Amino acid sequence: MLEQTLTIIKPECVENKHIGEVISRIEKAGYRIRGMKMLTLSRRDAEIFYQVHRERPFYGELTEYMSSGPVVVMVLEKENCIADFRRFIGATNPAEAEQGTIRADFGMDIQRNCVHASDSPENAVREIRFFFAQRELV
Ligand code: CMP
Repeated sequence: MLEQTLTIIKPECVENKHIGEVISRIEKAGYRIRGMKMLTLSRRDAEIFYQVHRERPFYGELTEYMSSGPVVVMVLEKENCIADFRRFIGATNPAEAEQGTIRADFGMDIQRNCVHASDSPENAVREIRFFFAQRELV
């Protein structure tokens, strides 16, 4: 099934100048970019975006980090995009991510893991709507 997912190139990855390489890998793997923008999240934006994790011990750190600098947000499209993209980027903890994945190659630690990806169809819809108006999707 043709699906869309939301990905975020996180602050440390932008800071380390890996935007181009990450996007290039994503495109070469067959994902079509249907929306893209660069922005800095406010603390409140990050809290709302990651509300599913609000009870987790790392929520405060995570939302502080995600609002610490610019990010690149993209809507990607492909068959079975949501599950495939999560496999493609590797495990949440870069130390456990398969060799050659984006997180293994560019992630610093479990929090600064280079990219975010939606984890379910429901969250993909919510996350895409959070960042993009219909006219910003091509
Ligand atoms: P992400 O895919 O953006 O979804 C939730 C984020 O929370 C995750 O990537 C990490 O950045 C962060 N995260 C998950 N688990 C931990 C943890 N144990 N400690 C710190 N941050 C975490």
